[in-house]
Amino acid sequence: MNVLGIDIGGSAIKGAPVDVSTGRLLAGRFKIETPLLLSPSEMADTAGMIAAHFKWKGPIGIGFPGVIHGGTILTSANLDKKFIGCDGIKLFSKATGLPVAMINDAAAAGLAEMRFGTGREFGGKALLLTLGTGVGSVLFFRGSLFPCELGHLKIHGRDAEKRVAASVKQRKDLSWKRWGERLNKYIGTLEDILWPELIIIGGGISAKHAKYFKYLNTRAKVVPAEFLNEAGIVGAALWAERERRGWRKNGARGFARSARRPHRVGQGIPQHAVP
Ligand code: BGC
Repeated sequence: MNVLGIDIGGSAIKGAPVDVSTGRLLAGRFKIETPLLLSPSEMADTAGMIAAHFKWKGPIGIGFPGVIHGGTILTSANLDKKFIGCDGIKLFSKATGLPVAMINDAAAAGLAEMRFGTGREFGGKALLLTLGTGVGSVLFFRGSLFPCELGHLKIHGRDAEKRVAASVKQRKDLSWKRWGERLNKYIGTLEDILWPELIIIGGGISAKHAKYFKYLNTRAKVVPAEFLNEAGIVGAALWAERERRGWRKNGARGFARSARRPHRVGQGIPQHAVP
């Protein structure tokens, strides 16, 4: 099955059709820079331009840099605050006229890495961090994924991502050593709580890992992501495929119908799990 994967980031939105059985892009990425904050409807129109560029008529998976519950966007740390509370599935499926599934951007990147990238064949406890405009995080264990918001852990009273995101290194012109040591401290704190066996570092800066991995003094094995710039696109597409299969299994009549009836915040949580 082919799915259009779209990765919404802090400074650009990019997409490409993906063969979800191999994780390969079926065409070169189409990227639109977004130097100014886009409102939700502008962002949806931009996603529509990506679908139009590929003359896309199938399902779409979208990775968004915030907490996503069902199809609802609950946080937007680095994008327009008007996204908060938006029904993302409705927003993007209306703009594209196509069925949409949504997932957190780092969780999408993690899915791609665990299925086809550096984490394939690893069934233990893995933590993936994406270092970009913000810091994204997701945990994996025995094939299950758990999107996290560890970039907002407070370090010295501030969100960790304000100290260790790649954007901070660039903005403050921090040396590899200075930034590497900050990252080491942050990862050390995460390790004390989560005890991952494998840590995968993603985001564009993972390509330069040789410059700062030497400052990471971790218990777990640390490896760079394999999918560099494509992880978010591939993972968003994989997520849409996974959602579609889930809906089928649960008796829904396919993706489009389910996309029109996304689950709402809190819906579908077994009663015994609700405190
Ligand atoms: C957001 C996360 C996102 C990360 C990377 C953070 O600011 O809260 O949801 O995954 O940035 O984009």
